[in-house]
Amino acid sequence: MRIFEANISSQACMFLRDFFEDTSIVENGNQKMFDAFGINTFFENNNDFQKLKESVSIVAVTSVEEPDRVEYGDFQTNKELAFKIVKMLSDKSILPEIVIEPTCGKGNLIIASLSCFKSIKRLFGIEIYNPYIWETKFSIIDYYLSNPNHRKPEITIIRNSVFDFNFKNISIQFPQENLLIIGNPPWVTNSKLGSLSSTNLPQKSNFKNQNGLDALTGKGNFDIAEYITLMLFDAFQSHDGHLALLVKNSVIKNIVFEQKEKKYKVSEIEKYCINAKKEFDVSVEASLLFCQLNSNPASKCTEFDFYDKRKKLSLGWLNSKFVSNIEYYRKTKNIDGICPFEWRQGIKHDCSNVMELERLNGHFINKNSDEIIIEEDLVFGLLKSSDLKNSMIKNTRKYIIVTQTRVGQETSYIKHLYPATYSYLMKNISSFQARKSCIYKAKPLFSIFGVGDYSFKPYKVAISGLYKTYHFTLVIPQNDKPVMLDDTCYFIGFEKIEFAVYSIILLNYSKTKEFLKSITFLDAKRVFTKELLMRLDLLSIAKIITQKEMKEQIYYVNGKYNLTVNLSQWDNFIKEMTPVKEKQMMTIGS
Ligand SMILES: C[S@@+](CC[C@H](N)C(=O)[O-])C[C@H]1O[C@@H](n2cnc3c(N)ncnc32)[C@H](O)[C@@H]1O
Repeated sequence: MRIFEANISSQACMFLRDFFEDTSIVENGNQKMFDAFGINTFFENNNDFQKLKESVSIVAVTSVEEPDRVEYGDFQTNKELAFKIVKMLSDKSILPEIVIEPTCGKGNLIIASLSCFKSIKRLFGIEIYNPYIWETKFSIIDYYLSNPNHRKPEITIIRNSVFDFNFKNISIQFPQENLLIIGNPPWVTNSKLGSLSSTNLPQKSNFKNQNGLDALTGKGNFDIAEYITLMLFDAFQSHDGHLALLVKNSVIKNIVFEQKEKKYKVSEIEKYCINAKKEFDVSVEASLLFCQLNSNPASKCTEFDFYDKRKKLSLGWLNSKFVSNIEYYRKTKNIDGICPFEWRQGIKHDCSNVMELERLNGHFINKNSDEIIIEEDLVFGLLKSSDLKNSMIKNTRKYIIVTQTRVGQETSYIKHLYPATYSYLMKNISSFQARKSCIYKAKPLFSIFGVGDYSFKPYKVAISGLYKTYHFTLVIPQNDKPVMLDDTCYFIGFEKIEFAVYSIILLNYSKTKEFLKSITFLDAKRVFTKELLMRLDLLSIAKIITQKEMKEQIYYVNGKYNLTVNLSQWDNFIKEMTPVKEKQMMTIGS
């Protein structure tokens, strides 16, 4: 049953029909609603009042399609979850006098709060979407009709954008009262809103002060929920009370990260992981963010399971390091340093239908299954994230045309040296021209990125940036040619197989894995990044691992992959990794 596009129970509908039977002016209607349910300004205008009277007497059963509400990040908290959240807060002995639901939607968290917290004196709900305002109000009526003896606080449900709402006024109006901010702000990012040309954004949408490059690389992308949470901290950090918001895990991570600088007066930061697939039918990692307001700024967050309250880990700042698992990090922090070898990202070309080939019955085919006859010189084996499952790879299922040996290199040489390759590339020039990214603008024909001397090193140790597996793969040449990786992968390259084997043993070592687990966030889009991998101090790991363990691992790798590596290059490897200054000191000392 729907009125004003909002769901209404038959109980509330019948009640309203009888309740307003003898009331004809809106002011009296509003007074009656306040007296009966504590709801302020139930009708914003006379028009709404008359329309409702008419609708409830028709008692229409209509089925109206839900509109597309992507830009509003609309994932309503179901009743059961709302009640569980409120129960959890009440188990923490939270007794709010003022409750604020900043984007209240259909009002399930409001109803759960009204039913559980008898201490509430004033409740505020803010929501942009009118049908939800009505649905919240109808639900409140329904709740009090079913529970007539429950105390009714003063309730204000306001139609407003959260971005323009002056929350500070509430704090000023009720300076002494204990506050609870409870909610589930929109699940949408500013870039998604940009792609929808939506205006549902804060005016100061570049609130992270990112520059143009960050915006291009996606670093300028943020969740609206993060903005709203910080807005609420701004307004209420000096007010006694608590905040409990359902948000994506990445929002919580960012908030704890920012705490080092922002130092909001919030403490006891906790994260209660929910099953978002079950609760909201979306595949994202989300949690209830909980914290105490008006307290010494905390920069750590303890993670629990929402359902059984089991403690999982603690994340946040430990001295000057931001880590995902403080306990693991404490045990392995001596590995946190600077990697002596530079981690590189693989090749980016944004033209896979032309540049990526497969071998079929002795010839190459591209993604459109066209048979391609070209010179072999510019064709190299290619590995993608999904290929990096084994510990060693020497055969690839895909190939790539590598048009440049360094970024920006002129490509006219292809025409003269490799006419068949040139002719194939030219035939498909429109695919190159259709590449959207501005990095390809005003660059030589068929340009690629993520290429340099390092791409042609014969031995590589690689990891997928996207997968959640802490596993490194040794990549060795295929038919005497170095194998390339795509831009979802990271690698370090070596001239000597020994260095590559030593590195892979150190990288797949249990302590390294533990360390990586302490600094990676599994809910990040890219679990591994160059920045993160550069923190792996291979020299320190080499000092922790015993010679016996090294020998055992080498023996295992040799046996499994038919190699003949030994420790004869170990000292050179250590020397190569030792910083220049230390090397000089060692020479002076000897
Ligand atoms: C994730 S839903 C959650 C609703 C409700 N808090 C709950 O827990 O069920 C987000 C809500 O934010 C509302 N919303 C989106 N943009 C808003 C804005 N600028 N101001 C106020 N509410 C907004 C949406 O209409 C939607 O009801």
